[in-house]
Amino acid sequence: MPSFLKKLSRRLRHPFNSRYAFARLRAYHTQPRSLEQVVDWAMNFGGGGYMRVKTMQKPAEITALAQAVQALQPRLILEIGTASGGTALIWSYLASEALISCDIKDMTPQRPLFSRFPPPGSQCQVSLLSGNSHEPGFRAQVEAVLDGRPVDFLFIDGDHTEAGVTADYRDYKHLVRPGGLIAFHDICEKQPLASNQVQYLWRRLKPLAEVEEFIHDPQQSGFGIGILRVPDEGAPDL
Ligand SMILES: C[S@@+](CC[C@H](N)C(=O)[O-])C[C@H]1O[C@@H](n2cnc3c(N)ncnc32)[C@H](O)[C@@H]1O
Repeated sequence: MPSFLKKLSRRLRHPFNSRYAFARLRAYHTQPRSLEQVVDWAMNFGGGGYMRVKTMQKPAEITALAQAVQALQPRLILEIGTASGGTALIWSYLASEALISCDIKDMTPQRPLFSRFPPPGSQCQVSLLSGNSHEPGFRAQVEAVLDGRPVDFLFIDGDHTEAGVTADYRDYKHLVRPGGLIAFHDICEKQPLASNQVQYLWRRLKPLAEVEEFIHDPQQSGFGIGILRVPDEGAPDL
């Protein structure tokens, strides 16, 4: 189907997809959830079109990461790479003050749904920003939302090229407080796509700081999460 027809069909189905997504969100919010349940919802929320919520993560890896983030008792979380909002659902459960999630795609259709992700009673404000993380103007927008507040956890899961992921690390690492965490997705040495090059950055970074890897199966192709704890003097330069 030509892309303009695909877009038109998405628009026409949007009201139905929206109704379904909000019904799912209400079901999710009916009771207090454990972290493991939230991860399960992020994997299986479902839905269609712009309103589909999902995450392309390995359950064991994302659960281990979410537990490490929970141990920080984070107030502020910054994510580069929202996609279908699966990981944003998890971060909005964990952040007590704010989640800033960014994507190069226009996130306007998803904003009403994703901004309601935090559980009932949570004070977490969700800012869903659309723009290219590599553009200085966009970085300024992120900094304006933060307004000087330190980030506890930065999840870098946007541009997966070596140059792109390195730029995101260099451009946003100063926002993370000492003791906070920076995580990268797709650190496995074997990757199914040539454009997935996070492993090259990870190889250079891991001798420079306290790091941990969550890799479900050492033989797997793709996935794998690496976390770096920011030292007192700040995240290492590359
Ligand atoms: C792998 S997906 C993120 C998945 C999501 N974190 C999850 O697991 O649920 C990567 C996303 O990064 C976005 N992206 C790629 N390059 C970007 C850039 N330069 N700035 C902002 N977002 C970017 C893509 O549009 C895509 O939606």
